[in-house]
Amino acid sequence: MQIEPFGLERWFAKYEHEADVMLAESGIRSLPASRFDTDPGDLGYVIPTNGDPDFRADVAARYDREADEVLFTCGTQEANFLAFLSLLTGERDHAVVVTPTYQALHAVPEAVGDVTRVALEPPEWELDIDAVADAIRPETSVIVLNNPNNPTGRYHPLENVEALYDLAADNDAYLLCDEVYRLLAEDPLPPVASMGPHGLSTTSLTKAYGLAGLRFGWLVGDREVVDAAWNWKDYTTISPGLFGQHVAKQALGDQEDDVLAENRALAADHRDRVRAFLEEHDLEWYDPVGVNGFVTVPEGFENGREFCRTVVEEESVVLAPGDLFGYPGYFRIGFGLPTDELEVGLERVGRVIAD
Ligand SMILES: Cc1ncc(COP(=O)(O)O)c(C=O)c1O
Repeated sequence: MQIEPFGLERWFAKYEHEADVMLAESGIRSLPASRFDTDPGDLGYVIPTNGDPDFRADVAARYDREADEVLFTCGTQEANFLAFLSLLTGERDHAVVVTPTYQALHAVPEAVGDVTRVALEPPEWELDIDAVADAIRPETSVIVLNNPNNPTGRYHPLENVEALYDLAADNDAYLLCDEVYRLLAEDPLPPVASMGPHGLSTTSLTKAYGLAGLRFGWLVGDREVVDAAWNWKDYTTISPGLFGQHVAKQALGDQEDDVLAENRALAADHRDRVRAFLEEHDLEWYDPVGVNGFVTVPEGFENGREFCRTVVEEESVVLAPGDLFGYPGYFRIGFGLPTDELEVGLERVGRVIAD
């Protein structure tokens, strides 16, 4: 089994530590730990290792599901990873993945099985349902969507998601939707795991809540898939982190409304600021949901990589080149950072464009 290097992580590893401004982080700025009680008591494993049953029942209720249809994981990353290991087995080892997307959503299934990518259509990043239908084979076990999408910020409407769900159901497959940005939408769609037995949802507290360091997420859906994922989890991280679960109970409890309202307000305000900046510099994007935008490269630069390299080397601001998502003519900007940092970052990027 081979896996390609995670291009975005390698790019960050090269520049992020030294740079002044991180304008490529895909989530919302992190909340301080002081906002929560951080004493979970004795530092054992979470028992049972799939997560506190009462808390799983609370999370499951958000999807009209039972506690045993939820597996707590170390972030969405582990939830997706375990889901792919569970789904792509034997003769059903093919996945249809809607791209561009977060690299893990095609690289992991490519490592363990076979993938057909179906491209969204720029500039609106429209989903072509017929192209997905054409890509399905008898051995397809899963259709993979990220909604809202990283890197484009495209939020596919309910009828399209339902059409994908129906395709999955008609082919005795699953629709796996990475919904890590879902709660940053003003009007979130119902999660895919609540649509019926063929829906699987993954998410975490990383992006919408600003709690990446908790490494707390989950997979929810069909019990057979969740059990198989738990089976794999015994070999990855055994249980979710105890601190993560302890703080997650508070973040999804009394604090949830405030945290989400603050974060959505920040995302909306920053989207306005970035939109104004792009208009000023004649750059285009699809007006995104969440805190990522996929922007056309300014004139005078050969491609997104050259532009991003110039910006980081001359102005110490990290952006993400579009080729990391298969689109060299774009770059990704992440605008969930604190407002003062966003303003400094935009001013510096503006200088590079003006020069
Ligand atoms: C679509 C998507 N899924 C998963 C992740 C990883 O998230 P987590 O911190 O929940 O593992 C990211 C991070 O950028 C992402 O964009």
